[in-house]
Amino acid sequence: MIAEPVERFDAWLARQRQPVSAPVDEPVHRGREHFSRIGCADCHTIRGTPARGDEGPDLTHVASRRTIAAGTLPMSRENLARWISASQRVKPGNRMEDFSHLDDVVVRDLAAYLHSLE
Ligand code: HEC
Repeated sequence: MIAEPVERFDAWLARQRQPVSAPVDEPVHRGREHFSRIGCADCHTIRGTPARGDEGPDLTHVASRRTIAAGTLPMSRENLARWISASQRVKPGNRMEDFSHLDDVVVRDLAAYLHSLE
């Protein structure tokens, strides 16, 4: 548990309840398209988008987490990319499908998109 002043907590809670706003820059936009096309959306929900999967964690505000995959890696754009391209090496046996065949550019766009979801 992290102690935070009440006002900051309220502001944080209000942000957490917001649906995602529309993507702005190009990699983010492409990343959002990949997310549906490649099948990430089959397992993950991002509120405010057509992604409604429930096998994996809800990613609506994934970038505001401190770590990725329950403490496995600190949150950063690079580590999101690492997770996406090598989740089975980062955390062997986890229930996320292997995506190590994805193109680097696609992985980078996906990481940019997810990193925009605060
Ligand atoms: C077969 C279902 C499935 C698919 C398809 C899938 N994921 Fe996952 N994903 C999971 C599961 C399950 C976890 C939780 C892994 C763990 O922590 O053990 C996860 C975790 C994650 C996390 C870390 C979330 C957190 O809260 O720390 C990210 C980011 C992520 N997935 C992104 C993606 C992206 C991007 C794609 C598409 C390239 C994708 N996932 C496709 C099931 C899936």
